[in-house]
Amino acid sequence: MAWGKHMEQRSISVLLIEDNPDFARLVQHWLAAGAGDVAFSMSWADSLSGGLGQISRGAVEVVVLDLGLPDSDGLGTFTAVHKQAKARGIPVIILSGADTESLALQTIQEGAENYLVKSACNAAVLSQALRFAVAKHTAEVASRTRVIGVIGAKGGVGATTIACNLATELRTQTGKRVLLADLDLHAGLVAFMMGVDPQYSFQYAIANFQRLDESCWNAIISRNRDDLHIVSSPALLGREEVPVETIRQVLALVQPFYDWMVLDLGRLNALSAALVNRTNEIFVVTSTGLGALYEAKRAVEALAKAGLGKEQIRLIVNEADRAPALSQRDMRSIFGTEVYASVPHEAAQMQQAMLARRPPPETCGLRKQMALVARKLAGLPEKNSRGSLSQLFSLPHRWRKSPGPDPAATSG
Ligand SMILES: Nc1ncnc2c1ncn2[C@@H]1O[C@H](COP(=O)(O)OP(=O)(O)OP(=O)(O)O)[C@@H](O)[C@H]1O
Ligand SMILES: [Mg+2]
Repeated sequence: MAWGKHMEQRSISVLLIEDNPDFARLVQHWLAAGAGDVAFSMSWADSLSGGLGQISRGAVEVVVLDLGLPDSDGLGTFTAVHKQAKARGIPVIILSGADTESLALQTIQEGAENYLVKSACNAAVLSQALRFAVAKHTAEVASRTRVIGVIGAKGGVGATTIACNLATELRTQTGKRVLLADLDLHAGLVAFMMGVDPQYSFQYAIANFQRLDESCWNAIISRNRDDLHIVSSPALLGREEVPVETIRQVLALVQPFYDWMVLDLGRLNALSAALVNRTNEIFVVTSTGLGALYEAKRAVEALAKAGLGKEQIRLIVNEADRAPALSQRDMRSIFGTEVYASVPHEAAQMQQAMLARRPPPETCGLRKQMALVARKLAGLPEKNSRGSLSQLFSLPHRWRKSPGPDPAATSG
């Protein structure tokens, strides 16, 4: 499938709750023309109960509500609709015949998005109110999502392994909605490592951007046994250019569906660099090999130059116990930043995990470290007294290869 240029109209689904069929037809007429790059699709309910039924069936993005209905009147109408709409995060705009300032104020105070008076309303006023309500709401929801990008300092240092295990632990530890997205679009091993065999990849989301709503997205992603959502890489292997801007737009569109998004960005390149400012933080994964450390330092510097703050760049040292002589202090002097987590080398467990196509068991040191990281990111208390936060930064003694003096104590 070729990348399409699909910057077509975005459609906003509006539910009108209004008992007067003539006025409903007028609103339909107002919305038919759309507004700028936005089209509206309107559904209509002529009673409170009918409206509540439609909201509960989903696929409503914004409600336009008349307060005087056959089965409810006044503020009570708003309260009933707002209760159900709020639970689904849907804004409610009042479009009422009653031009009463006190009623208007009361509904706004109780959470109405806007109060429009029928006699003063027209196509321009309503479509602008709808667009603003949806934009404001989307921004509010998106700002609640934490997006974590994972970048490998060098090929094969374990970026995908960290991304998969971090997403798994965020899902397990928080129980929240987590997306693991494989944006290493030319390669991409996430689906393989997580044991899912998706029918569609991220490429399908890009090609169908113009009709990408929640149900379409749910058909694209795979779910594993933990109900972690996974979107796979098309593994282009250099066959096509990737449309960076559309990828940014897809991520913005699906962000409200999640509390956490973990993006496997592969290496620092044109695509990952363009996505960096769509993330709240970047995990730079390195091994302890000299080449990887050198590349990691360059990546950290490049990210800082791109405008990321120190607290947004998190250094993860994978297979840290392979170079036990490197202390936290050494790392700090190399990178000018703290090591956020050290992950042990788990050859046998990872070998088995790859064969079974699933993350290693929770008892594996790698998983345990990622569980600590996930809890720390989520602001959750540590689970047991044995697991201390200091474990995040330094390796427990049993992981060190040879007994001997504490490297931290011997380093310059
Ligand atoms: N802590 C670890 N202990 C043992 N093996 C590991 C560890 N981390 C990663 N590996 C193994 O190293 C290999 C490379 O890991 P991974 O694919 O995650 O790296 P990557 O940085 O994403 O590579 P690429 O550059 O190909 O994207 C995999 O076989 C993985 O199982
Ligand atoms: Mg990878």
